[in-house]
Amino acid sequence: MTTSLFDSFDLSGVQLANRIVMAPLTRNRSPGAIPQPINATYYAQRASAGLIITEGTAISPQAQGYANVPGLYTQAALDGWRTVTDAVHAAGGKIVVQLWHVGRVSHQSLQPNNQPPVAPSAIQAQSKTYLINADDGHGGFVPTSLPRALASNELPGIVEDYRCAARAAIEAGFDGVEIHAANGYLIDQFLRSNSNQRNDKYGGSIKNRARFLFEVVEAITDEIGAARTGIRLSPVTPANDVFDPEPQPLFEYVVAGLAKFALSYIHIIEGATGGARDHQQGNTPFNYAALKQTYRHAGGKAAWMLNNGYDPALAKQAVESGLADLISFGRLFISNPDLVERLRQNAPLAEPDSNTFYGGNERGYTDYPFLNTKND
Ligand SMILES: Cc1cc2nc3c(=O)[nH]c(=O)nc-3n(C[C@H](O)[C@H](O)[C@H](O)COP(=O)(O)O)c2cc1C
Repeated sequence: MTTSLFDSFDLSGVQLANRIVMAPLTRNRSPGAIPQPINATYYAQRASAGLIITEGTAISPQAQGYANVPGLYTQAALDGWRTVTDAVHAAGGKIVVQLWHVGRVSHQSLQPNNQPPVAPSAIQAQSKTYLINADDGHGGFVPTSLPRALASNELPGIVEDYRCAARAAIEAGFDGVEIHAANGYLIDQFLRSNSNQRNDKYGGSIKNRARFLFEVVEAITDEIGAARTGIRLSPVTPANDVFDPEPQPLFEYVVAGLAKFALSYIHIIEGATGGARDHQQGNTPFNYAALKQTYRHAGGKAAWMLNNGYDPALAKQAVESGLADLISFGRLFISNPDLVERLRQNAPLAEPDSNTFYGGNERGYTDYPFLNTKND
């Protein structure tokens, strides 16, 4: 019998009702870095997903890069998250939190003491971040600030911040964590050669550029167990101005190293995040099948989760053919809280309104309708 998108899945002991995952989605609706009751409503509405991955969540004040993003480093934030995890669990769902350090994708006004953001090297990202004006509450995109290069003796402190955030996540009731190593944020800035021009043991060779990632994985799995730890990678995305001319050997090295940890899942963004699935960096198209094969040959047993631009047909095909164990949907989960039921019924899918993605109130957040389930 072929596997279906609607079959249950054992995620390292966490029982998922189906293979449909809500991708991490920053929504900038947690003022003071504290999850609010409206955030609990939003996530609980989407609890029929097999798994929810929260929006990127800052592991420390320095990790912050956008206005009104939640954190995991104060008691108030943990209490706020507890309300969210309780609401999702009460609705029958499972939820992991995405652990985020933005690195250079930040603005001085968001950093402790208005300091420059930190990065592997002092190279400004040609990208934007999102600020909200405290006076009138209006938000807008601004260029990121010039970062300062991290000294190598600062890195253990950041690894420790990841460890503490992972511990806090479990205390707040999450079923696990996802390490955000994608989309041009801090870990990805270490991986890619255009953002990492260090000449210490964290720069240069692939092995050196991947060192920080493995230190983070080691600390988190040591703290909460590999079965509660997933990771997100985006081998060719240009998001936040990262580039590497040779992504294939880089990411095959990464997944082969990850095989040593019994992680719960590997989450791969295929192509440009939110853009072309066949986006390419370097001279040859990225070979995702080879990436998976390298991981499996190295003994890796984690669930294989794919993302980016999946529509219902493509998602069904990926799971039925065994290309993926799990598929994550981003934008469709914004506008279809009952996406699982809609896919099951082949019902029409609502389009998301990008004007209300970042910041604001319940409009475009908790007011997307469910299918009319009345028998009339
Ligand atoms: C509004 C918005 C916010 C996002 N925030 C995050 C985030 O916090 N962390 C992350 O890894 N990806 C983030 N992404 C990327 C999505 O997780 C996903 O990779 C992307 O939308 C492509 O999937 P889709 O085609 O199913 O939407 C965001 C995307 C959107 C549209």
